[in-house]
Amino acid sequence: MLPLQSNKALVLLVAVFISRAFCTAAGVGLPDASPLDTRGHATQATYGVSSVTRGDDGLGYAAQLDLSNDPLPQYGPSFQQLTWQVSPETPSRLRVQISPTGVKRWQVPDSIVPRPGAAAGLTASSLLYDVSLPEPGAPFNLQVTRRATGQTIFDTTGHQFIFKDQFIQLATNVPADADLYGLGEATLRTGLLLPRNGSIITLWARDVAAAVTDWNLYSAHPFYLQVNKDGTSHGVLLLNSNGMDVLLNQTSLTYRAIGGLVELYLFLGPTPEAVIRQYHELIGKTAMQPYWALGAHQARWGYQNLSVFEDVVSNYSAAGLPLENIFADIEYQGDNFRTMTFSEDRYPAAKMKAFAAKLHARGQHWVPIINPAVGAQPGFRAFDEGNRDDVWIKDTSGRPYVGQVWPGAAVYPDYLAAPNISSWLQRQLTTFYRQAPFDGMWLDMNEASNFCGGQVCEVDYSNATSVYYLKQKTPKDFDLTDFFKPRVTCWLSCKQPAVVSSLSSPPYKIHNGGFGFGRQAPLQSGVIHPTAVHADGSTEYDAHNLYGTTMAMRFHAAFTAITGKRPFILSRSSFPGAGRFAARWTGDNVARWDELFHSIAGVLNNNMWGIALAGADICGFYDMAPEHHVWSAEHALPEAEYEELCNRWTMAGAFYPFSRNHLAANHLTRAHEPYRWQSVAAAHRKAYGLRYQLLTYIYSSLFVAHSRGGTLARPLLFTDSSDAAARNATAQWLLGEALLVSPVITPNTTRITPHFTAGSWYNAWDLTRMDVTTGGPVALDVPLGEVAVHFRGGAVIPMQPYANVTRDVRYAPVTLIVTLPAQPSSGSQAAATAQGPLPPHVLDEPCAAALARHAGQLVSCGLLYSDGDSLQVSEDNTVQVWYTAATAPAGRSGSVRSTVKANAGPGSGKLRIESLIIAGVPTQAADAAPTASIAGQDVEARASYDAATGVVKIEGINLEAGQAFELNWSI
Ligand code: GLC
Repeated sequence: MLPLQSNKALVLLVAVFISRAFCTAAGVGLPDASPLDTRGHATQATYGVSSVTRGDDGLGYAAQLDLSNDPLPQYGPSFQQLTWQVSPETPSRLRVQISPTGVKRWQVPDSIVPRPGAAAGLTASSLLYDVSLPEPGAPFNLQVTRRATGQTIFDTTGHQFIFKDQFIQLATNVPADADLYGLGEATLRTGLLLPRNGSIITLWARDVAAAVTDWNLYSAHPFYLQVNKDGTSHGVLLLNSNGMDVLLNQTSLTYRAIGGLVELYLFLGPTPEAVIRQYHELIGKTAMQPYWALGAHQARWGYQNLSVFEDVVSNYSAAGLPLENIFADIEYQGDNFRTMTFSEDRYPAAKMKAFAAKLHARGQHWVPIINPAVGAQPGFRAFDEGNRDDVWIKDTSGRPYVGQVWPGAAVYPDYLAAPNISSWLQRQLTTFYRQAPFDGMWLDMNEASNFCGGQVCEVDYSNATSVYYLKQKTPKDFDLTDFFKPRVTCWLSCKQPAVVSSLSSPPYKIHNGGFGFGRQAPLQSGVIHPTAVHADGSTEYDAHNLYGTTMAMRFHAAFTAITGKRPFILSRSSFPGAGRFAARWTGDNVARWDELFHSIAGVLNNNMWGIALAGADICGFYDMAPEHHVWSAEHALPEAEYEELCNRWTMAGAFYPFSRNHLAANHLTRAHEPYRWQSVAAAHRKAYGLRYQLLTYIYSSLFVAHSRGGTLARPLLFTDSSDAAARNATAQWLLGEALLVSPVITPNTTRITPHFTAGSWYNAWDLTRMDVTTGGPVALDVPLGEVAVHFRGGAVIPMQPYANVTRDVRYAPVTLIVTLPAQPSSGSQAAATAQGPLPPHVLDEPCAAALARHAGQLVSCGLLYSDGDSLQVSEDNTVQVWYTAATAPAGRSGSVRSTVKANAGPGSGKLRIESLIIAGVPTQAADAAPTASIAGQDVEARASYDAATGVVKIEGINLEAGQAFELNWSI
């Protein structure tokens, strides 16, 4: 939460700090040039190879490294001996570990990223890469190349590799004409593309508003995707949870971690989507979310009581707008911000329960916010039981670590390692759930945020304010006066340790952003002190970046145990692996046009990180004018422009995987629920109208990501990574394989020129076809109230009739839209190479097979997936049908075939295919009577052809989705 308030002095301060952040982070040169220069001379090699042992199977090796030169003494002495292991794990994944010989070091635990190890039966000949074999006596050097082309994947040549207790440096060369994506979390002015001008991406999870550019934000993801000029791609993960800087320039990338060890994974792709799948194969695939989570969400900080909360839902229905879920922000909580309790004044539990029942009866949902810190308030059950069960993170004196958040003094559950943490959590959550059943959990402030940050702090129980902020009895209507006090005044009594721990002041300072410090904030600024200890002995110094992920993991398990339902968890902080449990929103953004652009990068990055269900606060959390960084009426966007922005953002955000309008309290922002303006309400109705018709398509796409790894939302370049302009087209995205969104992101704009990669594209609103022979910009008219959405050629897309809640769309009759591709299939070869446009679903076996089988024909492909939100997704409880269409190049005839992979669960029998549309059939005179017949079925299919639109429509099918069929048509 960005500390903004109407207090003038603070406002000024914040403005200064933020502008300072802009200066220090604006891609200027590195602050202290010499120690940051990673290039050394061959003579300055740091480690030499003393021995090499090759694996018995001819795969990989282990080598011993001896220190030969110890640079940067200011960061401490280097380890004398290192063990270096190179382990091929699959044909496309290589693991490299380097750690001090005989020294136990912190390593990301298996509970966060379970290590799969090497695949059984792996052979040297199957590897897509070669690794240079070190020779005894030679200096350390790691060189990995792509076997097929000799291209560099990772190459430390010319850089000093350094391994000290609190400073590890590992650098690789990167071609100047390659593009890099994926490190985070930071909001970058370049959007998705990583800047390479001496920029530094810092990884240290922070509660800093997403609107602050370049600083480290809520999550830590040491992964990047490299796309070379020819389109071949690979990925790199440094699996290390310590604080870290990643230095980027034109020709190299340097990781600088302040602890842990080197555990490096390389993913060979070669297409971007293949890289991401291989990455998720390691860190865990994205969670399958409940179907309803794809609906429209609303939240606001400051719905001060239940009646206001109820009004929001009524306003939605009065305006005829879809609303699937409403989030309750911190106001619902009990007095003194007691976590997982209801305020008897503002949101009485009994009334909340009745309201929840009403929502559920209408097919709607509600989700409460939950902050991790627990008020240190004797008599508060969660606190007392936590003391009894010994679940808190400890300080260096061995007592529960005390920090300060909204409730005042608070302690932090040790979600990583406390032995009783699961039972403690399950008890708290059960009591809470019984009071008013909720449908998911919104985990906020889980970096974890701490406004005091001292090493050993105590609650001053004689000072009621420090314990019970806000006030003993919070008022009937949530009152935000002085809300930010706990953030700027530390009421705890914190002891200054006699000796400053090297954990709080390591010799190398990562570029940690913090208000008042620019990018030189101490590690403890705004978070739990790095010396704090978990039950397994690990320190926050090492485990800090994992807090949000461990919290999501425990809530996932607790909710599952209590309800038996598939959880929906929205988390602010994340680390690789978090996507197995959580969805994400991108944090506190601002209602500005540039932030609409930034939001796209946020969504796409999360998808690369394995968190498919991601979205930004639609129309901005705060409401500020571009030249000012704090809210005040005189500097806010003019009302008309605010409305225009919300209109454009609503229509873009309707196609985020996770789609939520959320905003700050009313002294920080003007209201912007879509029903506030007629024009925005109409925009909402239109855009969500299409989204809801495509729910099954989106859900099927999510299932592909969940079951195979990979993205739900992806950059346009993923369709053709050899298209140089596509690599920079980061204001657009695809939802699934086949839906391209090209929003308007600037004011006063009704004509845009988004990029289209080569192929055929179809306007999703009227199915008109557009052929793009070589990728390039296409001018489109997009008046206010409209949004450019296109289907990709070569897809089969299930569509259903619109309804206002997802429940009523779920099993509605399906129309399959077949979009013809521009080019006849050249067989399965396309899958093997990253060159040129890739057909949809080329990585999925049924489609790859259809492409091979129907070489020379126009092949389209897509999946229909349905389930009942069961906990375990299996072939016993899902409907999974792949549709492939093969059409003769002249478009006069074709067939559509279904391949049933599973047909069970609630969708089986209920889900019916009602009609079929083949779009993009070349304009031609049709025979008197277009025909359609389904082999072996007693079905009266009727075909018609509209030469004006090029659409063949086949009606009267009415077959169960889970029934195999082959339909032939001709015109
Ligand atoms: C943080 C969250 C925001 C939430 C607010 C109040 O700023 O990021 O989404 O509304 O806290 O709980």
